[in-house]
Amino acid sequence: MTKTSFLSRFRTPSLPVPRQGDTALVTGATSGIGQATAKELVKRQFRVIGTSRNPGSDAARANTPAGVELIPLDLGDPESIAQVPDELEKLGVGPVTVLVNNAGESQNGPLEELPREALERLFQVNVIGHVELTQLLLPQMRDARRGRVVFVGSMLGTFPLAFRGSYGASKAAVKAFAFSARREVSRFGIGVSVMEPGAINTGLSERRTIYVDDHGHYAEDFRTMLAHLNQNEAKGISAEEVATEILKAVADKRPRPLYAAGSSARLAFPASRLLPRDTMGGIIAAKHGL
Ligand SMILES: NC(=O)c1ccc[n+]([C@@H]2O[C@H](COP(=O)([O-])OP(=O)(O)OC[C@H]3O[C@@H](n4cnc5c(N)ncnc54)[C@H](OP(=O)(O)O)[C@@H]3O)[C@@H](O)[C@H]2O)c1
Repeated sequence: MTKTSFLSRFRTPSLPVPRQGDTALVTGATSGIGQATAKELVKRQFRVIGTSRNPGSDAARANTPAGVELIPLDLGDPESIAQVPDELEKLGVGPVTVLVNNAGESQNGPLEELPREALERLFQVNVIGHVELTQLLLPQMRDARRGRVVFVGSMLGTFPLAFRGSYGASKAAVKAFAFSARREVSRFGIGVSVMEPGAINTGLSERRTIYVDDHGHYAEDFRTMLAHLNQNEAKGISAEEVATEILKAVADKRPRPLYAAGSSARLAFPASRLLPRDTMGGIIAAKHGL
């Protein structure tokens, strides 16, 4: 066990900052937050590798920011994850110093009606996939004695919402992994942070997966929640604003455990420390018409 002074364990550690020319890997770089983050990393002189499930498709090529090299990755498929080091080697990429675990599925449905296969896929894509990818890349960061890992969670991982239980649970799981790993790897110069976006206007509404019986007990409330969710997203902040926060987690000397943006994050987090849990839950439900 490494010796830690009594007071230093309570402080955010000061860590080496990734350098220009270092390699950054962003999962899901063909759309939304991942695309904006990859673009910003290119602007800041990183060598940027993005991922897509179909890197050869016209859509992926058209949507990949200039300067970003794409490799295939389907987080739902453990074999595809295991191939990442080989794909990086094919590109002649050295150690990855910055990993942005961004790609994700936005699942919706009442607890009672969520099928097991949907839950398994969600946790594979949103949680296990990113944990496995991080496991593959951490040794390179440890050897380099510097690295940053940013997990893109969601404010729903902190503030649960009805009919978003599986999604919120996947994001809460990622947060627990990140906060735990943070203390495991900081002594190797590696920072681990979570970025929790609120409602962000990325067009994600069109790509949600939905599991609800249209004529069942929950249908009406579910429709109300979804309509508000989609409206909030359409009025949400831009992916570029989220990318700016993610870049803080990459470039801050003392990377914070948690960054957040959108959905009045600046009010919501302090309020949650003062208000009773059910009051906070009521505010979030009301924002979604419930
Ligand atoms: N938008 C929001 O309001 C919001 C709010 C809170 C949190 N978030 C989180 O932020 C992250 C990005 O969201 P976004 O709105 O930018 O999403 P998005 O626009 O739908 O983009 C998702 C990206 O992930 C890739 N992807 C999707 N499924 C994948 C899989 N199974 N394996 C590997 N890659 C996959 C997609 O690329 P290909 O199709 O090319 O594979 C795409 O580039 C997600 O983790 C999401 O949960 C979003």
